[in-house]
Amino acid sequence: MSHKSVLALFCIVSVHSLYAFAFDSPDETGFQTYIVHIEPPVSQILASFDDLDNYYSSFLPSTLNSDEALRIIHSYHNVMKGFSAKLSAEEVKEMEKIEGFLSARPEKVLPMHTTHTPDFLGLHQDFGFWRDSNFGEGVIIGVIDSGVIPDHPSFSDVGMPPPPAKWKGKCDFNLTTCNNKIIGARTFMSSIDTPLDSVGHGTHTASTAAGNFVQGANFFGLANGTAVGIAPRAHLAIYKVCSISCSESAIIAAMDAAIDDGVDVLSISLGGSSDGFYDDSIALGAYSAMERGIFVSCSAGNSGPFNRTLSNEAPWILTVGASTIDRKLAASVTLGNNEIINGQSGFQPFDVSLLPLVYPGNNATDSDAPFCFPSSLNNTNITGKIVLCEVGGGLGRVAKGQAVKDAGGLAMILMNTPSRGYTVAPDAHVLPAIHVAFEFGQKIKAYLNSSVSPSASITYNGTIIGDRQAPAVASFSSRGPSFISPGILKPDIIGPGVNILAAWSESVENNTNTNANFNIISGTSMSCPHLSGVAALIKSVRPDWSPAAIKSAMITTANQLNLGNLPIEDEWQLQQANIFAIGAGHVNPSKASNPGLVYDIEPKEYISYLCGLNYTNRKVGVIVQRRVNCSEESNIPEAQLNYPSFSIRNRTIPQTYTRTVTNVGDPVSTYIVEIVPPAGIDVKVEPTTLIFSELNQKLTYQVTFTSSGGVVSTIFSEGYIQWTSINYSVRSPIAVRFIDFSSLRF
Ligand SMILES: *[C@@H]1O[C@H](CO)[C@@H](O)[C@H](O)[C@H]1NC(C)=O
Ligand SMILES: *[C@@H]1O[C@H](CO)[C@@H](O)[C@H](O)[C@H]1NC(C)=O
Ligand SMILES: *[C@@H]1O[C@H](CO)[C@@H](O)[C@H](O)[C@H]1NC(C)=O
Ligand SMILES: *[C@@H]1O[C@H](CO)[C@@H](O)[C@H](O)[C@H]1NC(C)=O
Ligand SMILES: *[C@@H]1O[C@H](CO)[C@@H](O)[C@H](O)[C@H]1NC(C)=O
Ligand SMILES: *[C@@H]1O[C@H](CO)[C@@H](O)[C@H](O)[C@H]1NC(C)=O
Ligand SMILES: *[C@@H]1O[C@H](CO)[C@@H](O)[C@H](O)[C@H]1NC(C)=O
Ligand SMILES: *[C@@H]1O[C@H](CO)[C@@H](O)[C@H](O)[C@H]1NC(C)=O
Ligand SMILES: *[C@@H]1O[C@H](CO)[C@@H](O)[C@H](O)[C@H]1NC(C)=O
Ligand SMILES: *[C@@H]1O[C@H](CO)[C@@H](O)[C@H](O)[C@H]1NC(C)=O
Ligand SMILES: *[C@@H]1O[C@H](CO)[C@@H](O)[C@H](O)[C@H]1NC(C)=O
Ligand SMILES: *[C@@H]1O[C@H](CO)[C@@H](O)[C@H](O)[C@H]1NC(C)=O
Repeated sequence: MSHKSVLALFCIVSVHSLYAFAFDSPDETGFQTYIVHIEPPVSQILASFDDLDNYYSSFLPSTLNSDEALRIIHSYHNVMKGFSAKLSAEEVKEMEKIEGFLSARPEKVLPMHTTHTPDFLGLHQDFGFWRDSNFGEGVIIGVIDSGVIPDHPSFSDVGMPPPPAKWKGKCDFNLTTCNNKIIGARTFMSSIDTPLDSVGHGTHTASTAAGNFVQGANFFGLANGTAVGIAPRAHLAIYKVCSISCSESAIIAAMDAAIDDGVDVLSISLGGSSDGFYDDSIALGAYSAMERGIFVSCSAGNSGPFNRTLSNEAPWILTVGASTIDRKLAASVTLGNNEIINGQSGFQPFDVSLLPLVYPGNNATDSDAPFCFPSSLNNTNITGKIVLCEVGGGLGRVAKGQAVKDAGGLAMILMNTPSRGYTVAPDAHVLPAIHVAFEFGQKIKAYLNSSVSPSASITYNGTIIGDRQAPAVASFSSRGPSFISPGILKPDIIGPGVNILAAWSESVENNTNTNANFNIISGTSMSCPHLSGVAALIKSVRPDWSPAAIKSAMITTANQLNLGNLPIEDEWQLQQANIFAIGAGHVNPSKASNPGLVYDIEPKEYISYLCGLNYTNRKVGVIVQRRVNCSEESNIPEAQLNYPSFSIRNRTIPQTYTRTVTNVGDPVSTYIVEIVPPAGIDVKVEPTTLIFSELNQKLTYQVTFTSSGGVVSTIFSEGYIQWTSINYSVRSPIAVRFIDFSSLRF
């Protein structure tokens, strides 16, 4: 077993093994990779990184033999004080006795979690915020992922200025490979690795955030158009930490380097399960980044629709859920009874005429049969037929089609399981196929039961733009409430993450098309870089805004309605999406660039928040990297952090919190509060009017939550507070939990 272990990338190219999460295990010789935290030195005598490295070495066992140099894998400076090293359990025990030692644990193994999206987000080339922001010019986005294919047309530097003077990064490709688009590329996987992407994921996320314009991009002829990232004039700095999965020691090293290099935004489409922030490497790295003014955008995870399944929940991170866009690669099944069922497919070769329809899954003794495993298909005669298969069971969607094709089937209808609901994937199938919602699959099953000679046909309608139900929350998008800090509303926001076309590194499954250098994939991995791109656009017009201010701007201006002007739905059961699925709502980049008011947070305010979580002094010290004595800090409850949203429990009522807003809109302006209280709760705001006389003026208000009496039948309810002036609406969502969510199934 190598010392590399994994965090997950958050995309759902193949559904299984995504949620796998484990600790590194010892190799044959009893050694494994440990993440070792060391207490910051008491005085500032350790002036340079070399001094720190020597200090770290003093914690290694004194009995080390000649390969000791190989023991320390990465030495950390910014993200945490400490290092990763190959150690035995006995050596760790010895180390624990040394003064200044804080903790050591085996590194974690985490799973990995666009032609059209700028337009969908209201970004237009010739007018408005996209042009006014200069397409993110001058901003550097660091992408921590599986590397990049540098010669992809999306990374052309045509029209790109040279990197800003502050840039200090490196290019581990040969000298000629980096350019003014990819200004840095490094790998933290091993000394013999290169930043080259062998997976596709990192190429996809980087081009989504800041890919250049590429005309005629398409996916097997579908979704044809100009592919472009959200901030096409921003620079990219690539930090490779994953192949199929991601190593925690590499992630910390990459964030450490990105902070030194001078990135402005970090885009992190990976994560593990939720741990205390002191034990969560991404949270630690993001804290250090935030302290230096770097905005950190992370994927929320793909473990929906189940409750309390978020990753990357720290309040100094933007936690991004995934939603649909209005483009469909449309296809339809017509059943023998003339019922029409809609779905999608990424491979639309020719319409399939009326053929016999079979479902292998009716065999009670073969539990693999519904999933169309090769071993199950030879029990049913599928020759010349259309075959109904269910997603899941541990077999990929395209592999199911291959099995059907190999066993003589002519076409496949892929239906969802109940938890996948209405979210479908237009994959590059190897035979004519269509993916349909669970509800529609049930209709097909009912028809199969009712007919003696069932039959169906498939028609392909190509690329259709303008789905009025978009955006809708993807069924897989992880849900709140936050596990680690339920008093902070998470996810923060949703953005495009379903069926996103962006750059890819190899021709996809149907490999007769050798020019398939774009791919359509889904996941919160895809929504995160959209928000990273939006952050870059905002940063280029508001260079002095803190990460908290940018996040506030995104949250208070998000949309709650879809293109059809109805409340955003959840594709799990096609009902109105709740606050723990969409957070504040769907990102609105133009509005976020000009929000009127922002809820800002100084880095030191997080110390009061962390002490209020009842973390020990040591744990808070690990996060903020200095000695903290919580008895001497002003501990605050979670909901008192100056966050732009509210998440409260009705346990102790009444509860009063203060919020401070900073005027970044019209210098002279008056805001009046509008309150839509959550069911069961009264909300009182004092004062109800905020009168500003200058820019950057700060005003404070108080919110008091009281029970409105009577027994509430729901588990949670939602509402909002909105400050409105002539030119602005500043909305803060409110979630109220009436029970302890830890008792709920998830
Ligand atoms: C640099 O790397 C690129 C891509 O990996 C390759 O095409 C090119 O030939 C290399 N150039 C040199 C000078 O080695
Ligand atoms: C994509 O669109 C461009 C421009 O409209 C057109 O020239 C090209 O043939 C199209 N490609 C495909 C594969 O449809
Ligand atoms: C999540 O919690 C809500 C509220 O209790 C509940 O209605 C829903 O069924 C839960 N979701 C799942 C997937 O169990
Ligand atoms: C595709 O076209 C057929 C026939 O014109 C139509 O009935 C069906 O609704 C269309 N499907 C979609 C998904 O638009
Ligand atoms: C069924 O298919 C599996 C896998 O393709 C094969 O191993 C097995 O021998 C087949 N069984 C029969 C009865 O053909
Ligand atoms: C059901 O599956 C079992 C085990 O794979 C197989 O032996 C049997 O023939 C199948 N029955 C039918 C009706 O397909
Ligand atoms: C399978 O079904 C096809 C078409 O209905 C038929 O021609 C063929 O003989 C069947 N094969 C077997 C082995 O029964
Ligand atoms: C792959 O796609 C090409 C072009 O769309 C198509 O002609 C070919 O038949 C497909 N290959 C397979 C194996 O289905
Ligand atoms: C179809 O019939 C099977 C077996 O008789 C049954 O288990 C299943 O529930 C039926 N499905 C539907 C959707 O009616
Ligand atoms: C921290 O401890 C205090 C005092 O026991 C308690 O009131 C508070 O709810 C705790 N906070 C959290 C987040 O558990
Ligand atoms: C923390 O502060 C309190 C109150 O000032 C003091 O009593 C305590 O000794 C301090 N703890 C440490 C570890 O310094
Ligand atoms: C909180 O809500 C629950 C459920 O409605 C209710 O039983 C309880 O009395 C409420 N607590 C307070 C303090 O209002």
